[in-house]
Amino acid sequence: MKRSVIAPTWLGGTLSPPGDKSISHRSAILNAMAKGEALVTNYSTGGDCESTLRCLRALGVPIRRMDQEGSLVIQGVGLDGFREPDNILNAGNSGTTMRLLSGLLAGQPFLSIVTGDGSLRSRPMDRIIKPLRLMGARIQGRDNDSKSPMVISGGGLRGIEYTLPVASAQLKSCITIAALFAEGETTLHQPAASRDHTELMLQQMGATLVQDGLTVKVEPGHRLNSLNVNVPADISSAAYWLVAGVCHPSARVTVTNVGINPTRAGIIDALLSMGARLTITNRRTEGGEEVGDITAESSDLTGTEVAGDLIPRLLDEAPVLALAACFAKGTTVFRDAQELRVKESDRIKTTVQELSRLGADIRETADGMVVRGTGRLKGAVGQSHGDHRLAMTLGVAGLLTQGETEIRGAAVASISYPGFWNDLDKLAGDG
Ligand code: S3P
Repeated sequence: MKRSVIAPTWLGGTLSPPGDKSISHRSAILNAMAKGEALVTNYSTGGDCESTLRCLRALGVPIRRMDQEGSLVIQGVGLDGFREPDNILNAGNSGTTMRLLSGLLAGQPFLSIVTGDGSLRSRPMDRIIKPLRLMGARIQGRDNDSKSPMVISGGGLRGIEYTLPVASAQLKSCITIAALFAEGETTLHQPAASRDHTELMLQQMGATLVQDGLTVKVEPGHRLNSLNVNVPADISSAAYWLVAGVCHPSARVTVTNVGINPTRAGIIDALLSMGARLTITNRRTEGGEEVGDITAESSDLTGTEVAGDLIPRLLDEAPVLALAACFAKGTTVFRDAQELRVKESDRIKTTVQELSRLGADIRETADGMVVRGTGRLKGAVGQSHGDHRLAMTLGVAGLLTQGETEIRGAAVASISYPGFWNDLDKLAGDG
């Protein structure tokens, strides 16, 4: 599918993007491990979260969809109620599904095989294979134990003390989930804070888990209580409209009910440091997660540095932030962002390539990008590279360029945001 976008003269409106992808995955996986029934509302309608439900069902977890808007009832089977899947588990495009489920499978006394699509099969799995082996799991992967498909023969785990080599929430959550099945405590040391949705949810479910700075301690042997979850809107999806709102010369866009957990809200901090006019209202805490409404208005941006501890807090928003940097005065430098190279695409390469087509002054570095703001881009034909975040970044670029922008491979947006193109039309059309 391809889409054409033309910049409107006015961009405006209010909308709520779909449920947070990260919180949705966790609400399904952790409730499957609990005893009892849980109601999850506003579960992400994206393809990735559907992959998680498909895999859990294959492991014997009853899940009932209540409506098309994302209400689910999950019948938890408890830590020892999963059954051996009778086929290969397919995580599709979803790294979170594959890595978090592998932690669960490492704790099961049966055999499972996990695979994914072409993009996921090229992504690093040695980062989970190593610690799961240290815990006692028998696990092997393709390409010298570095990639999927992986074969897991679980059970008999023991707790470990482990220093994560990367600030990855998927890795942290994989080991944390395995730790719940292990004998003895597990202690994890992180190089920088990554999203802590797993920790927050497990604490509410009755697990003994302590976060102390960058250290997470997990004690096994506690049964998990099921937890009703009302998933907030995804800040990673809201980010497209925030950037559109601050970069468009005549705009006012509000996104409501957005999760603004501080470990995820780096995009807000980065845009504010660039001078963006963003206001957060209706701040509240729901289910341990901070939530609010965010309004973005046309702004005069200046370049900034995006590096260090900020990177894991805005990782998925880097492509659209690079787009914002094209409209800022001065230079924006992304550093310490080499993890971008092992996402659904090599996002340093694909972002630089695609924004260059639109006339951006942007170049690749080993661990990031350098963007010199020119204040304008011109319409061209762009390619999503099968990466949802690239497709949506190009969609927003189309709202800001002179002349028409065509996005090839646009349908992939549905991996996290099935209504993206409709919402884009709505914001552009209201103007
Ligand atoms: C995710 C963590 C991030 C992020 C991904 C979702 C999660 O990856 O890029 O889209 O739900 O845990 P890492 O923190 O593993 O790099």
